Amino acid sequence: MKFSDRRPEIMVRINTKELAYRFIDEQVKLVREQVGDRKVLLALSGGVDSSVVAALLIKAIGKQLVCVHVNHGLMRKDESENVIKLFRGEMDANLIYVDATDRFLELLADVSDPEKKRKIIGAEFINVFADEARRLEGIEFLAQGTIYPDILESIEQAEGKKAVKSHHNVGGLPEDLNFELVEPIKLLYKDEVRVVGEALGLPHNMVYRQPFPGPGLGVRCLGAITRDRLHALREADAILREEFDNNGLAGKVWQYFIVVPDIKSVGVKDGSRYEGWPAIIRAVNTTDAMSATVEEIPYPVLHKITARITAEVEGINRVLFDLTPKPVGTIEWE
Ligand code: XMP
Repeated sequence: MKFSDRRPEIMVRINTKELAYRFIDEQVKLVREQVGDRKVLLALSGGVDSSVVAALLIKAIGKQLVCVHVNHGLMRKDESENVIKLFRGEMDANLIYVDATDRFLELLADVSDPEKKRKIIGAEFINVFADEARRLEGIEFLAQGTIYPDILESIEQAEGKKAVKSHHNVGGLPEDLNFELVEPIKLLYKDEVRVVGEALGLPHNMVYRQPFPGPGLGVRCLGAITRDRLHALREADAILREEFDNNGLAGKVWQYFIVVPDIKSVGVKDGSRYEGWPAIIRAVNTTDAMSATVEEIPYPVLHKITARITAEVEGINRVLFDLTPKPVGTIEWE
């Protein structure tokens, strides 16, 4: 990290649409100057950062941007479909969809160590993306949704402070893929990225969506991932999100999701013994994800979620609520 990578102190905080429009105009000009008539590749996860970069680059260079959406099979319910619908359907993006579910799940079978799982998912993501990049011709640039906290984190790592978990982002592509980087939002904080996203016309619920880790449901399907437990987790998580939306909690709770551990307990369903996994609800508030408090969820909502998950999701026979703040727990379980 060089000193010049730091955000200039005189840079204003982008907190209004007018400022966002000015930022967008400037970046559109800069990107056009940098790229000319050449092509740019972008890994589009559907998260806020990569989506804002995609929308910005579509505005600047249209079909010269090639977006690749890799579905690692660990996405939430309907997530990949929504990315395709928005970017291909509404924004007319040049979007390649890669369903790599089998590749990932085969590699992850029998792997229970959380760090190993993260490493496998991160490395395989790069492999799949690199395979696509090699197939495409005439690409000279790689766009990335790097934001300013990522730069600060790199500075901290360079200074020798140790990370608790290895976070996964695209980067570190093989040497034969020698792209020049395009990083139009690298000086922005997250709140500014959201303001810019809305000014670019991205839907509010996408721009303000809760964070979702790169390894996805892989770190919420605890221990060795199996397809049936992953499916149960995805369905239970969709119910939780729907009920949070319906009960006005979605905008109030910073992050909420389901975790399904690899343990079974005895239950009873329709008069018969029914062994199943527990679905654990995590609902936390934080400002910087370094520490977090547990949000109080009204009991009637918890009862409704419990009733729905146990009735609708095959394999789940209990619902638990995680009361642990960070520290001592981390937000994710792995
Ligand atoms: P923890 O579990 O460390 O999580 O308390 C803090 C925040 O980071 C998110 N998280 C990740 N985000 N890649 C990401 O981009 C990752 O590998 C990753 N792991 C955790 C987590 O969801 C929480 O918001």
